[in-house]
Amino acid sequence: EKDGHDWFMRKEILEQPRAVADSLLGRRTASGSLHLDEMRLADDELREVTKIIIIAAGTSFYAGMVAKYAIEHWCRISVEVELASEFRYRDPILDNSTLVVAISQSGETADTLQAIRHARSQRSKVLAICNTNGSTIPRESDAVIYTHAGPEIGVASTKGYVTQLVACYLLALYLAQVKGTMYGDEIDGVMTQLEAMPAAVEQVLETAPEVYELAKEYADRRAFLFLGRHAGYPVALEGALKLKELAYLHAEGFAAGELKHGPIALVDEGLPIWCIVPPRGRDFLHDKMRSGIMEVRARGARTIALVEEGDDSVDAVSDTIIRLPKVPVLLQPLVAVVPLQLFACQLATELGYDVDQPRNLAKSVTVE
Ligand code: M6R
Repeated sequence: EKDGHDWFMRKEILEQPRAVADSLLGRRTASGSLHLDEMRLADDELREVTKIIIIAAGTSFYAGMVAKYAIEHWCRISVEVELASEFRYRDPILDNSTLVVAISQSGETADTLQAIRHARSQRSKVLAICNTNGSTIPRESDAVIYTHAGPEIGVASTKGYVTQLVACYLLALYLAQVKGTMYGDEIDGVMTQLEAMPAAVEQVLETAPEVYELAKEYADRRAFLFLGRHAGYPVALEGALKLKELAYLHAEGFAAGELKHGPIALVDEGLPIWCIVPPRGRDFLHDKMRSGIMEVRARGARTIALVEEGDDSVDAVSDTIIRLPKVPVLLQPLVAVVPLQLFACQLATELGYDVDQPRNLAKSVTVE
């Protein structure tokens, strides 16, 4: 069932354009408004929401971090993102105007399940974003947005993650529609950009041969860093997690602006650093990222930059450039994560590890 691939993970990475398209299917009504089948929370209830707390673990948590940027920008509601395993132990402030969003691919993660039980006991509504029909988390939630990744077999989440991002964007747009923080044609415009994402993901998959070469070149390294800003920051964390879990390497993701507050001390001759460069339209972010790259390069790092096509401004400070399709900044995680998934998959393969069943890990973590 691996369709001729060596790993389920590789197959699942390649399935992402389809998974993104399926997760977008049927979300617009004939009149053009956004419709989410299993929303089950009335518009009036959603209008009363003053705070959102997103709860998740691992890769799903990083999807939640992207969701925070989108929801705050489009809906002007404050969003906290919390690790499920920490949530209920910090005595969180919850009430009936707080919407808790639980993101879980499997729908069975014990930490996340316990967190939503706690939230509901405090009268908060819970909306689940889940890939597994009928699993425990959606069953115990007030509402659900199903992702349509199809079964994910590889322990490392890939198509699960990109479809979670899609669901998060849909939720953000839906809330913007209900709350009236965006005009109908603005929502329509973002939907059209989202509908262009399967083709954009397809395009970035074409970088696979270059990325595989890089994995060969760097197969003897023991440490990697990943830098990003804004929506690229959670992507940096996700790239690092993939390398940890698959290639058993020390990998860290940082917000590029934090470098000077400590992490830059780690940089020495030859350290490979993946740099996720925000799109050009956001000049402030873009230029700051560029200076971050210059700083690490000046200290001997080998920089691998993920940069949108047409942007040659970091060429001179990058050892390798991987081109990303031109997409809006908030949607960039959908394309920027792909080379990082391919890299981790290939590097683990080069090192002779079992990509689908990494040591010490299980697909769903059903103990707290
Ligand atoms: O099924 P869930 O989305 O709740 O799983 C959460 C994490 O256990 C999961 O994302 C884990 O971090 C993956 N192995 C990452 O690739």
